[in-house]
Amino acid sequence: MSVRILRTRGELRETTARWRAEGAAVGVVPTMGALHAGHLSLVERAQAECGRVIVTLFVNPKQFNNAADLAAYPRTEDSDAEKLAAMGEPVLYVPGGEEMYPAGFATTVSVTGVSEGLCGAHRPGHFDGVATVVAKLFQQTGADRAYFGEKDFQQLHVVRRMAADLDMTIEVIGCPTVREADGLALSSRNVRLSSADRAVAPVLYRTLADAADRIARGESTDLVLAEVRDRIVAAGYSEVEYLELRAEADLAPLDKADRPARLLVAAWLGGVRLIDNVKVG
Ligand code: PAF
Repeated sequence: MSVRILRTRGELRETTARWRAEGAAVGVVPTMGALHAGHLSLVERAQAECGRVIVTLFVNPKQFNNAADLAAYPRTEDSDAEKLAAMGEPVLYVPGGEEMYPAGFATTVSVTGVSEGLCGAHRPGHFDGVATVVAKLFQQTGADRAYFGEKDFQQLHVVRRMAADLDMTIEVIGCPTVREADGLALSSRNVRLSSADRAVAPVLYRTLADAADRIARGESTDLVLAEVRDRIVAAGYSEVEYLELRAEADLAPLDKADRPARLLVAAWLGGVRLIDNVKVG
C-alpha cells in the first residue's frame, strides 16, 4: 500500500469530510517527520482507537528559536511515507510553509503557566510556535483525538491547556515514551549524535531513573539532583540545561515528591540537545 500525501487544506478538508460522512472517529498524530518507533507507537494507538488516522508532517519554523537547529532538523519525507505505508496508514498531510503561514499571517497562540520554566525558559518563543501550529492542525484536521508522546512532557501540558482554554473538543492523549534497549528516549535528534556520543547518551536516562528512585525513597531532592548533574557532565555531556522535580498534574516546582511527580531534564551532548523525563515513585 502506498501512502496518500495531501499537501493542501482543500485536499485535507475533502478527505476528512468524507470520513466524517462515514461516521468514522478521526485521530491525528502531529509530527515534524523523521519518524521513529516512538511516532509509530502513536500511530498504532491512534489506529486502535480511531476509525481513521491522519499523520501530519510539518517542520514548523515558528517553534525553532535557533536557525541552525531548524536547518539541521532531519527531513525524510520519502522514508517517513514508507514507514507509514508498512503500517497500513495511508494518509499523510504535508502542508508547505505557505499553506500554514500565508503572507499576512499574524496570529500567535500563547499559553502561560505550564509553558514557563523548563524548555520554555531556554527556548524563547518555542511553545508559542508549538501552540500556534497545533491549534491550526487541530482546526484543519477537525480530528476527534490527538496523540502526543510523553517524552515532550511540557509540550503535552501546553497542548492540553490550550485545547481546554480554547474550548476545543478534541481529546488530547499522552502516550508513554519509547526507548532504545539501553534506555535512550527515541528522538528525531538522536541521528545527529556521533557514535561516541551515542554510546554516552543513555547515561541521561540511567541517572534520571536512579535519581527518581532515590527521591521517591525520601533522599533530599537538592542533594540527589546536584549529584546527578555532576554525573551527567562527568559522563561527557557538555551542559545540563535544567534538571527539575515538577508536579505531574500542573508542572508546579516541587522540593519533594509529596504528590505524583516527574523529574525532567534537558542536556547537551556533542551539540545535540536531548530531553527526557521519568515518573517519581
Ligand atoms: O513534537 C513535535 O514533533 C512538534 O512539536 C509538533 C507537536 C508536531 C508541533 O510541531
